[in-house]
Amino acid sequence: MDLLINGRFVPLPDEAVDPAMPLLWVLRDVLQLTGSKYGCGIGACGACTVRLDGVPARSCVTPLSAVGGRAVQTIEGLGGADRPHALQRAWVLHQVPQCGYCQSGLLMAAAALLERQPKPSDADIDAALTNLCRCGTYPRVRAAIHTAAA
Ligand code: FES
Repeated sequence: MDLLINGRFVPLPDEAVDPAMPLLWVLRDVLQLTGSKYGCGIGACGACTVRLDGVPARSCVTPLSAVGGRAVQTIEGLGGADRPHALQRAWVLHQVPQCGYCQSGLLMAAAALLERQPKPSDADIDAALTNLCRCGTYPRVRAAIHTAAA
């Protein structure tokens, strides 16, 4: 079985093709894409957020069988040190992270929001980003999204 991840087809080893396995564990344990984090495991916190065909998805409650041929984007595919996404540059500018654990999920949700809504209001951001941040970085998240959208 192949998965389309970050623009490339990636073959999965046989031991990883249990269709019930959550996508998060496929990403982290099988493919070593560890940017997506495990927080609650019940779809509540958003630390594990990836995008499926552009739509934010909680990978901890998304079984492999539900992914099918959809395009998976993880934080590793959003950008990086050599080619940061506008949101990542804004995240640095506003020094958004505190502990940082939830930030990849927030960035993936924010990227989906900006593609859908290039100039979101604070209310739009609050409605779209249901991710939890125990450090309370929400004001800086909003500021960074506005900067990236400018
Ligand atoms: Fe998936 Fe919390 S770890 S929503």
